[in-house]
Amino acid sequence: MKILLTGAAGFIGSHCTENLLGGGHVVIGVDNFDPFYDRRSKEANLRTARDSSGFTFIEADIRDRQAVGEIYRKHGPFDAVLHLAAKAGVRASILDPLGCEAANVAGTLNLLQQSVEGGGNKVPRFVFGSSSSVYGNNTKVPFSEEDPVDNPISPYAATKKAGELLCHVYHHLYGLPVFCLRFFTVYGPRQRPDLAIHKFARNILAGESIEMFGTGGNSRDYTYIDDIVAGVSKSLQRCEGFEIINLGSTRPIPLSEMIETVARSCGREAIVKRLPMQPGDVDRTFADVGKAGRLLDYAPTMPFAEGVQRFVQWLREAR
Ligand SMILES: NC(=O)c1ccc[n+]([C@@H]2O[C@H](COP(=O)([O-])OP(=O)(O)OC[C@H]3O[C@@H](n4cnc5c(N)ncnc54)[C@H](O)[C@@H]3O)[C@@H](O)[C@H]2O)c1
Repeated sequence: MKILLTGAAGFIGSHCTENLLGGGHVVIGVDNFDPFYDRRSKEANLRTARDSSGFTFIEADIRDRQAVGEIYRKHGPFDAVLHLAAKAGVRASILDPLGCEAANVAGTLNLLQQSVEGGGNKVPRFVFGSSSSVYGNNTKVPFSEEDPVDNPISPYAATKKAGELLCHVYHHLYGLPVFCLRFFTVYGPRQRPDLAIHKFARNILAGESIEMFGTGGNSRDYTYIDDIVAGVSKSLQRCEGFEIINLGSTRPIPLSEMIETVARSCGREAIVKRLPMQPGDVDRTFADVGKAGRLLDYAPTMPFAEGVQRFVQWLREAR
């Protein structure tokens, strides 16, 4: 397959790129090196992919209609689009809601429109990276794709829900086959530096204190990157109709346990500074992955302690 992959220099995008190249696919990777975190980290994420003859990288902004149109004309037709580019992060979206909306909503709409116009070549499959944050403070667990998601509690969550809605519009109007994948807190080598496991490990290794927001009882369904990549890869093969699919671990870990696990992997005590819950943060996430199992044979396998160990090993080497 020839795949247009947006957000190729990011955490999840770079792992998906390598997986697809390893499977003999051709990947046209797009990224604008958004300054949310260091460009050097993103260049490092791309290093392995750049060695592959099946990979072409284009530095472009998905909000730019002309640039995106040219990519579809010059490098298409594509067998699939894997759309992972976004301004990610709940707290960042509260600080810059307009920037978040432009990348995540207008950028997604631009890609959807090109996917049905695209130089006369319609895209046969569109896979969109959505988020568990759309569930907001859902009280029913585990979170199922059937649950109402009308109460987001951050701009980021609202933009991801908007992205799903736009995907549905393009499926309805133009028959574009779309899978919207709701990722549950993804971790592993190259994890975004703003995410808690990464921040905590970095500070613990440096002998610095960590900031714990809330009582430590709030929990996340942490999902290892390889499990996510497996779900994405199957989605690209099987995308038809319109589906929303959770990709999680079905194993929520309380914050206090996550901190202990990270500290153990770092081989040091964590110095914890307790702070109130941050606005926009949900109390817990917990995925029902029954649908992913049925449609994608999805079965997450990575034990949390081992996944954290692998992440910390990568962090030590990257440092
Ligand atoms: N990491 C998680 O836990 C998680 C959870 C749920 C959903 N997601 C979603 O998965 C996707 C990938 O997340 P990630 O953690 O790899 O984040 P990331 O920030 O590492 O990757 C996103 C990439 O998109 C690029 N980008 C941002 N705006 C762009 C624009 N306008 N044009 C082109 N490129 C642009 C960035 O430069 C970055 O490299 C995102 O859509 C995110 O919302 C991630």
